[in-house]
Amino acid sequence: MASGQLSRAEALTREGVRHACHVMLYCDTRSKLFHRTPIGHIVLMQMRFDGLLGFPGGLVDPGESLEAGLSREVMEETGVALAFSEEDHMASCFAPTTSGPPSTPPLITHFYVKKMEEDQIRAMEIAGPSRAVDHGLEVLGVVRVPLYFLSDGGGLPSFLSHGFAGNARSQLLDALRRYHLVAPDDLGRALTSAVQVTA
Ligand code: GTP
Ligand code: MN
Ligand code: MN
Ligand code: MN
Ligand code: MN
Ligand code: MN
Repeated sequence: MASGQLSRAEALTREGVRHACHVMLYCDTRSKLFHRTPIGHIVLMQMRFDGLLGFPGGLVDPGESLEAGLSREVMEETGVALAFSEEDHMASCFAPTTSGPPSTPPLITHFYVKKMEEDQIRAMEIAGPSRAVDHGLEVLGVVRVPLYFLSDGGGLPSFLSHGFAGNARSQLLDALRRYHLVAPDDLGRALTSAVQVTA
């Protein structure tokens, strides 16, 4: 396992830590951009209140199971009721330490991936926000991740140039690789051509 990574079971034995769970929801699709470029899959992320991209999910409350916490956060942030199980868990890791009061306990972030049907994903994009209590507040909008490459560098390379919360960017890349949503060579290409936008 990569540095900072630990198993779900091991994470649960740690004392004095906080836990956060986030999920990548996705489906296959036959839709084509401009009637020409197959988009392949719909992968959902969100624009957060802080202007960073992240996955739906959040901090687990004391006494709440990881998967129950994830369900509650997904309801608050997307307005959709979804149940999660250990089988949806992909990885856990210690979050990079951030500035905060010295008493802030370390955070373990758990990442889940769930494949859905295209109509469920479309419902999350269209009907979900009208019911989500956090829509317009903690969550500024649902976004799809472009998985394709346009000739001018647009698509995945541009998307990866945005700012991401915590380790959401590496979670996205790991999941795209693991679930074969983008070919390995293309992922490498996206990473080398992603730029940090400065102006
Ligand atoms: P509140 O309801 O305001 O407490 O927020 P939340 O419970 O929804 O928590 P949030 O989703 O912001 O996640 C908690 C912490 O995890 C944040 O401090 C972020 O830095 C980090 N984080 C946020 N989104 C992601 C994500 O998609 N992946 C990872 N790994 N970390 C994230
Ligand atoms: Mn148009
Ligand atoms: Mn939340
Ligand atoms: Mn959240
Ligand atoms: Mn919360
Ligand atoms: Mn909240």
